[in-house]
Amino acid sequence: MCGIVGYIGPREAYPILIKGLKRLEYRGYDSAGVALLNGDLNVYKCSGKVADLEEFIIGKDISGTLGMAHTRWATHGVPNDSNAHPHYSESENLAIIHNGIIENYKTLKEELLNRGHKFASDTDTEVLIQLVEDILVNEKVELEEAIRIALNQVVGAYAIVIISKDDPDTLYAARKGSPLVVGIGKDEFFLASDATPIVEYTKNVVYLKEEEMAILRRGGDFKIKTIENREQTPYIQKLELNLSAIEKGGFDHFMLKEIYEQPRSIRDSFRGRLKPDGKIVLGGIRDYEQKIFNAHRIIIIACGTSWHAGLVGEYVIEDIARIPVVVEYASEFRYRNPVITEDDVVLAISQSGETADTLAAIELARSKGATILGICNVVGSSIARATHAGIYTHAGPEIGVASTKAFTAQVTILILLALRIAHQKGHIPESKYQQYVREMELIPGKVEKALAVNDYIKEIAEKYKHARNFLYLGRGYNFPVALEGALKLKEISYIHAEGYPAAEMKHGPIALIDEEMPVVFIAPSTSTYEKVISNIEEVKARKGKIIAIVTEGDTKVRELADHVIEIPATEELLTPLLATIPLQLLSYHMAVLRGCNVDQPRNLAKSVTVE
Ligand code: G6P
Repeated sequence: MCGIVGYIGPREAYPILIKGLKRLEYRGYDSAGVALLNGDLNVYKCSGKVADLEEFIIGKDISGTLGMAHTRWATHGVPNDSNAHPHYSESENLAIIHNGIIENYKTLKEELLNRGHKFASDTDTEVLIQLVEDILVNEKVELEEAIRIALNQVVGAYAIVIISKDDPDTLYAARKGSPLVVGIGKDEFFLASDATPIVEYTKNVVYLKEEEMAILRRGGDFKIKTIENREQTPYIQKLELNLSAIEKGGFDHFMLKEIYEQPRSIRDSFRGRLKPDGKIVLGGIRDYEQKIFNAHRIIIIACGTSWHAGLVGEYVIEDIARIPVVVEYASEFRYRNPVITEDDVVLAISQSGETADTLAAIELARSKGATILGICNVVGSSIARATHAGIYTHAGPEIGVASTKAFTAQVTILILLALRIAHQKGHIPESKYQQYVREMELIPGKVEKALAVNDYIKEIAEKYKHARNFLYLGRGYNFPVALEGALKLKEISYIHAEGYPAAEMKHGPIALIDEEMPVVFIAPSTSTYEKVISNIEEVKARKGKIIAIVTEGDTKVRELADHVIEIPATEELLTPLLATIPLQLLSYHMAVLRGCNVDQPRNLAKSVTVE
């Protein structure tokens, strides 16, 4: 959470910083600020979004060829003007921006207060810059050294950038636990939480590693050191990102663009892995395949939407690969003293590859000797690096805070993995295996068809836009789809929504059903179809409004439901890839019709780097 941008070079920094902040706004958007050095060290910041900051800055001095900017997702201190970043040091000679949490900030703050320092905010971040200044003044060391000493006293996570009025030709940055990328241009440097603010200026980047500092000097000289002061040889990588992948491309929102990208993103997930002869090759985990084939148990750890993809993974791996699977919320797993053995394979699923709880759960499982494999979208991310091996989803950058194409890409990878194990272990006949892989190849085209009913879904959204509650019900493979449908609706339209296994409805949620209650049934033609019909009857008997996702040509559900949305027929284990599409569109239209900010829902952030 929180987005960071920095610039030093011959150009005016402000336009680069503001544009960068807009690209990173998905990371947090409750306040924003910028610091510019032009002889003076000017800090402008306010609560609200980047657009509010731009308005606030009108008429102010925005000159300067060195600067940094921040968009915040509040952890310590309410999102107001004074808690917004950047934070000055007490003398106002230094300024800092920070993404992460300084866990021991209270102790540090007390010590600084005892020494007579005064604070202007409630944040943990301000403590760090005051500490740096205290060391600078009292220990009479260079700024680089003062930062290093301070970072060695800090417990927690950080990506920071520091600038100094007395050092107008240097940008200092460091990371631990939160991501930071350095862009290397001609005589200029960029810093950012991810590569999206950098890509239009340079393709040469260095991803800072844990506990590394970058010292970027005007004129093009730079150094990477550890916070123990060991100089590192920078590993300069070429960005493979295209500008078009991070722009809206004619869509009103990133979320809609990403929903519509799914035929391509699903294909990209299996491209090169599903061979013409039907063989599945997962190159990233090749060296660990024996471990998986022999695993006593697979433990899936994830958060949010990725956790829902993990549930689909559980169904498909147990169904066809016959290995026991448990799916765990990373935040619970890490603190509940789980039993983990060397025969366990842990699958960590994460779009961003930065989720703090998932990372911590990985560390725990690793320390117990388990094999850890990642399913990540962001190449080179912390989780991708923390695992023994992994499979990238290749969905492309996902910018809308509500995850859409990353989910279907994760499900695609989990199905490929299950098929690979099932085939290798001979758990399904060759003909059935071939049928599954041929059907997988048809999924992108079928997603295209599922998207074609967008206008009808918008009409349904129009009817229910004032609803206060929604229930989503599904069984088997489509129970996780029900959970994901409910999550999508609540996170972007703020309508209370619950997902349940359809049969569990009798044990509680049925009490909520009356003529006001829309109930979404995920009811394609699968092995539990008849059972779901009985559940639909139960809702109808209580006058609930029924919106049903069914397989093309269905007649039975049509007789019962108020609205029927068709998806193409497919194999049961592939139905989540199609049934999810109308649910994404439904929540999108509901949110738009209710005037919600679809891409940046309140209180949420895309990359949750705090626990
Ligand atoms: C946040 C995002 C969700 C995401 C979850 C897990 O809550 O808003 O869209 O599913 O984090 O993130 P990850 O990057 O680990 O998949």
